[in-house]
Parts: sequence; structure tokens; C-alpha cells
Amino acid sequence: MIVPQAHRLDNVKEYYFSKKLEEIRNMNSKGMDVINLGIGNPDLSPSQETIKALHDSSQQSKNHGYQSYRGIPALREAMARWYMRFYGVTLDPVSEILPLIGSKEGIMHISMAFLNPGDEVLVPNPGYPTYTSVSELVGARIRTYELDEDQSWSINLDQLKRDDLSRVKIMWINFPNMPTGARGSKSLFKELIALARQHKFLIVNDNPYSLILNDDPQSLLSMPGAEEVSLEMNSLSKSHNMAGWRMGWVSGRKDYIDTILKCKSNVDSGMFLPIQHAAIEAMKNPSSWHQEQNQAYVSRRNLSWQLLDQLGCTYDRSQTGLFIWAKIPASEPDLKTFVDKILMEAKVFITPGFIFGSKGARHVRISLCNKEAVITEALERIKRHITHIKVEEL
Ligand SMILES: Cc1ncc(COP(=O)(O)O)c(C=O)c1O
Repeated sequence: MIVPQAHRLDNVKEYYFSKKLEEIRNMNSKGMDVINLGIGNPDLSPSQETIKALHDSSQQSKNHGYQSYRGIPALREAMARWYMRFYGVTLDPVSEILPLIGSKEGIMHISMAFLNPGDEVLVPNPGYPTYTSVSELVGARIRTYELDEDQSWSINLDQLKRDDLSRVKIMWINFPNMPTGARGSKSLFKELIALARQHKFLIVNDNPYSLILNDDPQSLLSMPGAEEVSLEMNSLSKSHNMAGWRMGWVSGRKDYIDTILKCKSNVDSGMFLPIQHAAIEAMKNPSSWHQEQNQAYVSRRNLSWQLLDQLGCTYDRSQTGLFIWAKIPASEPDLKTFVDKILMEAKVFITPGFIFGSKGARHVRISLCNKEAVITEALERIKRHITHIKVEEL
């Protein structure tokens, strides 16, 4: 490159999946027909009412212009009703909700709005890689906190309390957790809020998975004292099968929301109005619609468990969310070799846990976003081609 990149990119790598999907596309272009069990991209459809609302609204010529930076009032009202319906949390739709173009961009806006270079950010290990890469981009100092398998992948609060948290400005948490499938709990949230208040940092819960394979959706914002130190992001990507629509939001106290808007309003120019209209419909989906999605995920999970058994992997059956997080057999010397062997020999891609941090060094993540027939085919291929895995620990 004649023009060098900015220093802020020195430690930031291209998103793992953007590279891996390219590799898979190349394999497919050579006729290899790879089954991708890696990515959490829901394949099921949004509700028919949602699609109809998009269609109807986009027929109106007046609906194609720029939109308000805060989203239309009816969208924020629908989000507030949704928070009451699923979490029993009251939010003021005028001042405590900011729609986002997917929750992923919220990670950037929140980081830009609150972090100065050198501020410390607590990110989970294992965890969603974007917390780390965005923190790098804004020049913050990353401190990981460990989620441990022997503590059911919960946060080690005793360790956190012993640590010096005086320079921490943001702590990212993500419950229900991706990739581990661990649930949050009221007692955990209570302790975290107390820590955040004591050390004056912002605790942000990234909460896109709470309606999937989870009978007890929880919001950090339901906790007493949360509003002073907490924000929560949510999204229709996973829970309403609308990943490509880019519809999420952040909720929290007015002054925090206004601060985030200072950033966001300088970056984009609102969301396509028909998508806002459709999202309002989506949030009205009856409980039976959500149950139907979950039934599909239960069947897929059963098959995926069989596939993992075949690979000699071990996992906890009480996990929640859109994935299964599983440990590879002790006899496998190396995770990358294990995953590459499955890709090259069985033409099945599963996500290696190391992309979520060092605590994922012996784990894989399987997505439930494939039809049963596809998972069955992946299982058959693994039975046919992967015969030399020792399963002595089962
Ligand atoms: C933990 C977590 N947060 C956020 C996102 C991004 O979701 P969205 O589609 O709302 O940007 C994902 C997507 O995979 C995720 O796994």
C-alpha cells in the first residue's frame, strides 16, 4: 500500500468469519459443497406480518427519505412494550431507548461515546470478538476477565473484587452468553452493579439471545440501582430471524442515551422507514410464534448433540442461545488441526473456540442455524470421513 493504514488498526485483524467465509466460498467454487455449521445467521423466516409490513410500507413513495436519528416514536414505543412483555422492565420510549442499525454498531457508538485512549475496558474471555476489536480501535486498554468452565462459565466475582478496577470505564457482559450458552442470574447482576457503582464504570449487557432456548429471559435493567451504571443492547437479529435487517437498540438512562446519540447522529442518517414499520410488527409476534422457532431449535440441537458425540466432544445440555459450546476430546492435540481436519475431510465447518479468546482453546461452537436435513447430512459425512477420533473420555 502506498498509503499506510492508521496506527489504530495495528492490532486489529479482519473479522475471522470474513476471512473464513471467503475460504469456504473458494472451496465451494471448486465444487466441494461445504456445510457451514459455524455462523449464527438465522435461516428461518421473520413472521409473515413483519414481511407484509415491510412490503406495504415500501409501496408508499413518502417512506423513502431520511429518517430521524432516534427512530420514529412508534418504534421506540414498540421496543418499550417489548421490554415490559419479556423482562417486566419499564423504559421511557421518549428518552431511554435508542434504535441501532443492529446491536453490533452499538458497541462502537458506546465505546466512542465513553472511552478515552488509555481507559480500561473489561471484556469476557471467551467472548464476542467485537468488544475487543472496537476497544482497540478507540485506543482503550483491554483487560479480559475469565469465564471458567469449572464455574459453569460464570464470572469469577471474587477475582474481580480483588482486581484494581480504578481505571475501568466499561465492562462488557453478555448474558445469555455467546459462545458458552451460560445464563446470567439476578445475584450475579446485583454484584456486578454494586462493583460498577463502587468503581464508577459503565456495565453494558449485550442481550440478543434471551428468547432462544431460554425459558427465563432476564434484563440487567430490571435490577435495582442498574440505571445509574448500566446500559443494555438488544436486537431482532436472532430472536426474530431478522439478522440482515439490522435492527437493534440500546436502552438506559436519558443522559447516557443522549451521549451515545452525539456519536451516532454524526455517523448515520436514520433507518429505512419500512424497516422500522416492519420491526414494530415483528415485536408483536405472539408467544406461539416464538415457541415455534424454539421447537425447531430443539430438534436441531438434538441432532447437533449427536454430531458432537460422534466427534467425541463433551458439552453441557443446559446451555441456552443459538449455539452449542463443546469441548474437544483430550486425545486431540490441537484445536485448529481438529477443525481443519473436519473441514477438509468431511467438508463441514465448525467454529474453533480460540476466536473467542484463549479460554476457547479447547472448544468448538456449533450454530443451530441449519435445517435438520443439513445437520443430518453433516453428521453422516462426519461418520463417513472422521473415523480416527478417539472418544475415550465419553
Ligand atoms: C454476542 C453478540 N452480540 C452482538 C451481535 C450482533 O448482533 P446484531 O445483528 O444485532 O448486530 C452478535 C452477533 O453474532 C453476538 O453474537
